[in-house]
Amino acid sequence: MKAVLWTFMLSLLSTPAVAPRAEPPVTQSPKAIPLMSVNSTAVIQCSATLPNLVGLFLKRRFSRKMEVMYLSLAANKTNVNPEYKNRLSVTGGCCNYTLHLSQMGVKDTDGYYCQWSQLHLHSGSSKMYESPDTIVIVRERDPKEDCNRDRTLHQILFLLTVSVSVVVVCVFIGVLVWRCTRTKESYRPARIHHQRHHVCPQHSDQQHIYPYK
Ligand SMILES: *[C@@H]1O[C@H](CO)[C@@H](O)[C@H](O)[C@H]1NC(C)=O
Ligand SMILES: *[C@@H]1O[C@H](CO)[C@@H](O)[C@H](O)[C@H]1NC(C)=O
Ligand SMILES: *[C@@H]1O[C@H](CO)[C@@H](O)[C@H](O)[C@H]1NC(C)=O
Repeated sequence: MKAVLWTFMLSLLSTPAVAPRAEPPVTQSPKAIPLMSVNSTAVIQCSATLPNLVGLFLKRRFSRKMEVMYLSLAANKTNVNPEYKNRLSVTGGCCNYTLHLSQMGVKDTDGYYCQWSQLHLHSGSSKMYESPDTIVIVRERDPKEDCNRDRTLHQILFLLTVSVSVVVVCVFIGVLVWRCTRTKESYRPARIHHQRHHVCPQHSDQQHIYPYK
């Protein structure tokens, strides 16, 4: 009797220690696939650690509420929405699946979530488990960005032109100044030479003239 009581008490005590499940029964990753370009592929992973799972849905939540896919786990057969036909593939096994959504367009931007259906054997009813969404954002190449890039390129080119012009003008002025100062320096002795020459021939002339006379 005591042993039964103890077992009961222990099971009561140990239940809370076992019960807090660190990981949720259904998980999904990644949380977001932002700024995907058109025609790229979104890869979403959904897994579950629940018994008696019979089906897996992939659904969209915000921009359009719709069912993208249903995977019957028992039959191992997928039922894909016509909009995603030929651009959705599933890999993996129960209960860890990887969903590939390819050729994504801007219209496919939405929150995607997995929903697992679990069969209650006793009642025959099913219970749904949803995992948190993967936010998928598909965008076209932003023409504004190109515009901005062009504008900055033009600004850079303009600044480059201005600075090159300034450098050219500076070099030109520098050469002019250098030439002026150089010619001035070479002029002075030239003038002196000239003056000497002017003086000397006169002197020499005179000197030459005088002895002749
Ligand atoms: C996306 O792919 C389709 C066909 O695969 C093509 O016609 C379209 O030009 C592509 N769009 C971009 C933006 O690459
Ligand atoms: C489920 O079907 C896919 C092909 O559609 C196959 O690759 C996979 O091995 C199957 N899995 C099981 C558990 O039968
Ligand atoms: C699911 O499978 C992938 C590999 O296909 C693995 O990287 C991942 O860790 C698995 N996730 C879980 C919860 O088992």
